[in-house]
Amino acid sequence: MKVLPPEVEEILAKFRLNREQLQEISEKVEQQMKMGLAKTQGSSIAMLPSYVPALPDGTETGKYVAIDLSGKNLRIMLLTMNGAGTTPTHETVNYIVANHVMKGTGDQLFTFIVNCLQRFLQEFGLVDANLPIGFVFSYPCELLSIRSARLLWWTKGFDIKDCLQRDIVALLEEALEMNMSTKVSIKAVMNDTVGQLAAAAHKYGPECTIGVVIGYGCNSSYLEKTSRITKFDAKARGYDHDNMIVVTEWEEFGKHGELDDILTQFDREVDAASVHKGKQLIDKLCGALYIGEVVRRVLSQLVLDRVLFEGQSCEKLDEDESFPTKYISEILGEEEGVFKACRRICEELEVEMHGTGDYIIIREVCDVISRRGASIVAAAISALLRHLELSSVKIGVGGALIQFHPTYHQMLKEKLEELTPITMKFELVPADEGSCQGAALIAAVAERLKL
Ligand code: BGC
Repeated sequence: MKVLPPEVEEILAKFRLNREQLQEISEKVEQQMKMGLAKTQGSSIAMLPSYVPALPDGTETGKYVAIDLSGKNLRIMLLTMNGAGTTPTHETVNYIVANHVMKGTGDQLFTFIVNCLQRFLQEFGLVDANLPIGFVFSYPCELLSIRSARLLWWTKGFDIKDCLQRDIVALLEEALEMNMSTKVSIKAVMNDTVGQLAAAAHKYGPECTIGVVIGYGCNSSYLEKTSRITKFDAKARGYDHDNMIVVTEWEEFGKHGELDDILTQFDREVDAASVHKGKQLIDKLCGALYIGEVVRRVLSQLVLDRVLFEGQSCEKLDEDESFPTKYISEILGEEEGVFKACRRICEELEVEMHGTGDYIIIREVCDVISRRGASIVAAAISALLRHLELSSVKIGVGGALIQFHPTYHQMLKEKLEELTPITMKFELVPADEGSCQGAALIAAVAERLKL
């Protein structure tokens, strides 16, 4: 057991959630999920219909393109599937969305996407191939069909006002028409969690019916019986399938004050400085876009308290985003007692004198804040497991924290075991590049089912 200065312990105690607190969160999440399935308004968890009736079954074949807009990253992928028993191959290119585009106009955003697509198709000699496209748009949308999605609100630092309440497939198609000489067709639009679920189901089989993304933001989707989505009038909407994937959008949980008891002063500061104050608290407690900021603010306080760096000031730590979440992964990626990355990071933060005592504190702060996030995600997943009442399920997990944070998967698994009734068997199965691959797979499902 490490002995930390009492000032550090006092702050970190606020981030350590006990079992009762997590159970309480989990129960409230379950209630909100049930309410979200019954009513369009009122629940902090929206439970949005996706119009996707089935998951890929492995027999898919052909070439598909996926466009995946998730936070600052725009990924475009060419996926080639050769049918049952084979692993799909893919080529992917990443493009970065500039800050001014994230807060600019719809025209700027969709022209940027189309320009990247044009470049991608040229690079792979696909300009005339007219390939079907799956489009991942990882922001909350009300779907009107598998090819029509009305943007409800932005998250993850985006704020493009003229896109709100607009059909983002229509916006993409308009931009394609204006800017591209060749024809491409959008076969399906979906949330990134739907893509993640599809990719995992394709890889791990039909027992996989839940998808969770823990990336810049955090959200989930799962296969539900259409009859249990009681707010959804399937007949009136012309939907005649027994099942449908539901996108929970659980990142909004907390907007009615459900998390007030556990928010620390540091969380409140991160929230106050964010583009969407008071919203997406789960993203802010668990997502990669924010947890580095929470760590930074704690470290900055510890400098003020004169426990870190022997009280020498560290101006860099007072600058927004000077402690990106990738630092957390690098620090926790080292064996205990090794502090190479931590030393380098202190140098990057321009701290003049630093030593082992500081590294131990920094490492502990990174661990405790990551662990809190993983525990909250586990509480939310266990709510979903209870709601589904399945005796055995595979949960497809993906996103930056699963892919790059060295201890996240293990922490999530341990907490989930602690919070889930012993009779429910679950397995966390990772699928890298999941959302993007899944989009291509869902486009194939849409073609097969003639949706
Ligand atoms: C978005 C979700 C998305 C999640 C993970 C959240 O901020 O609102 O729609 O699935 O991030 O990317």
